[in-house]
Amino acid sequence: MHLKLIEIIYIFTLFSVAGWMIEFVYRSVSERRFVNPGLLAGPYLPIYGFGALLLTVVRPHLSEHHFLFVTFAILSYFPAYQELNLLQPLLLACHIVAKGIFYMITATLLEFASGWSLERFFKVRLWSYEDQNWSIRGYICLKFSLFWVFLAFTLEYFLLPAAMKFYQSGAMHATVISLALFEIMTVDFLIRAARLATVGRPKRQNEAMDREREFLAIIEPLMQHRLVSSLENYRHHYLRTRLDHSLDVAWLSFQIAGKLHLDKKLTARGALLHDLFHYDWLREGPRWHGFRHPRIALENARKVIPLTKKEENIIIRHMWPLTPIPPFYPEAWVVSMVDKYCGTKDYVLGVAATLKKAIPDRIVSFFR
Ligand SMILES: [Fe+2]
Ligand SMILES: [Fe+2]
Repeated sequence: MHLKLIEIIYIFTLFSVAGWMIEFVYRSVSERRFVNPGLLAGPYLPIYGFGALLLTVVRPHLSEHHFLFVTFAILSYFPAYQELNLLQPLLLACHIVAKGIFYMITATLLEFASGWSLERFFKVRLWSYEDQNWSIRGYICLKFSLFWVFLAFTLEYFLLPAAMKFYQSGAMHATVISLALFEIMTVDFLIRAARLATVGRPKRQNEAMDREREFLAIIEPLMQHRLVSSLENYRHHYLRTRLDHSLDVAWLSFQIAGKLHLDKKLTARGALLHDLFHYDWLREGPRWHGFRHPRIALENARKVIPLTKKEENIIIRHMWPLTPIPPFYPEAWVVSMVDKYCGTKDYVLGVAATLKKAIPDRIVSFFR
């Protein structure tokens, strides 16, 4: 099957979320408490996304047609070949068994590689089958390998065809949602990886303090400007002001740009100015605010500092994929991704804080 890039992202994000839900229910029920089954903060488990993608790619090569073709090609060398045609139902059953074995080996290898590399590189153990029979180093076990076979067949015959049908009926919405979710997942991963790399390493902690100082020196002159400081008077995402949000996006984008050896200074400045508009977007402002505010922010930003092309691109393209033209510079990609991540986080934590009285602390902390 020839997949377009957007279909790959769609399958990956959809099944990462679906896999998270399966694990969330299974582990929360078996441990009788809410358990985030993943390493990342959001509700997705990339291993399921990779598994679904792998199956999508290999599935056409494992069809009955291919299997019978190869089998008959081999059998045709035998003298009683004509009578062997009668064995076709048996061969089809063999095909299902062979496919099941293939799925079991592939899924188990994927699970082993994920468990091993998470422990090796991030020092994190997300699951352990040490208490199960037929387990290898706790990363894999027979019971779950059989469950993966069942899941792979369900995926092949029901879930993947349904997902592709759904995609074809609402391609535009599916595209925008899966691209935005993919951006959020990427930032979530980068943050988590950076945090795990810093824990317990004093040299890295000193570097983190230096980074903070560098960031403050970059944004200080912009913060002096009335157009920027007045952002604290506008509520932006639920409980947070627009200044809170802009600073969050700038700080995180600055750090990611540093890791990727991009222009940190321009990234931080463009990110700080990306939502530079002065109205309550839920109650006032222009129609189609989502599409129009990048242009308004750009015009305001030009009053604060002379902008480079890169900074302009960061501001005007930050709403992609809602606005159809994608960012041009890598720095603009970073800000666009971080913006969605921070926006989602603002809402999730805001709602959690509001409901705090009604919901126990352990659920709130689950989302942090
Ligand atoms: Fe925005
Ligand atoms: Fe924003």
